[in-house]
Amino acid sequence: MRFVFVMDPLERLSPDKDTSFGFILAALARGHDCMHALIGELEREAGRGSAAVTAVVRPIEHREDTLALGAPRRLELATVDAVFLRKDPPFDARYAYATQLLDGLRSTTLVLNDPRGLRDANEKIYALEFPRWTPRTLISSSPERIHAFVASVGGRAVIKPLSGAGGFGVMAVRGDDTNARAIVEYLTNEGRELAEIQEFIPEVSEGDKRVLVLDGAVLGAILRVPAKGELRANIHVGGSVLPTELTARERELVADVGQRLQKDGLYFVGLDLIGGYLTEVNVTSPTGIRELSRFLDRDVSDDVIQWVERKAQCH
Ligand SMILES: Nc1ncnc2c1ncn2[C@@H]1O[C@H](COP(=O)(O)OP(=O)(O)O)[C@@H](O)[C@H]1O
Ligand SMILES: [Mg+2]
Repeated sequence: MRFVFVMDPLERLSPDKDTSFGFILAALARGHDCMHALIGELEREAGRGSAAVTAVVRPIEHREDTLALGAPRRLELATVDAVFLRKDPPFDARYAYATQLLDGLRSTTLVLNDPRGLRDANEKIYALEFPRWTPRTLISSSPERIHAFVASVGGRAVIKPLSGAGGFGVMAVRGDDTNARAIVEYLTNEGRELAEIQEFIPEVSEGDKRVLVLDGAVLGAILRVPAKGELRANIHVGGSVLPTELTARERELVADVGQRLQKDGLYFVGLDLIGGYLTEVNVTSPTGIRELSRFLDRDVSDDVIQWVERKAQCH
């Protein structure tokens, strides 16, 4: 099969940690042609009865320990079997437009995740679709409302920018902290921008569980434990990674949320669970599959590629 990976420049990624690299290596090992494309080089054209979505693609080769790119050419994406949209956040206007260009492939080519699903599901706000499983959370731009929320959840909360990832901008807010007002002002840009404020879950010190979900079902999970003295468990900011299992409650959570993910075309997703609560639904370029593969001692990316093969065939 022929696969196109729309993603960041390859040199920005770590060959042994990055999940997109894992997918590419697994796809190459199964004999598929893989091509790299940048989001900024997508085009969509139509008129007088014809239509096309194209990208500048570069063939990906596995050389020694890394991946190398061949010569670029513009390719009509309807001619490939699947397009992986794996650009890292932030989800900005450029990203949103890219999903609208890729909408043009709806009737011809499997795109994962579904561009419409990606556009609809902000990674922070989408978790609020599942009130049974989320901790108390408010999305607001009003500093007053946010401070009232902090008081209402016992004076301890976590504030997050809506478009962040990798722990960027995520801060603890305590009602009695002399910085509390400045932090909230900063994250709401003085009341002009929305931020997420969430009750503080003390079990975060035991770790933030990343559950990888494929087509609504659990692929596996890893536990990220914050470094000493740090709130954030993200690998990117020094969290350590441990093997883990799901509790009965967490399995029920994934089964419930998974049905909705399937409906929204969010095929490969990373759920973040703290203390059994759903805090974030990562849909743009969830990571963790390499670590999971090491713990399970088998290549979980291969499961994903096999699923894509089946799904692309019946598209
Ligand atoms: N409600 C919470 N209670 C305690 N810690 C939290 C909470 N929400 C997030 N954190 C901490 O902040 C980190 C990043 O938060 P998350 O919502 O996953 O945003 P990001 O998109 O940056 O990963 C988590 O890994 C966790 O350590
Ligand atoms: Mg997270």
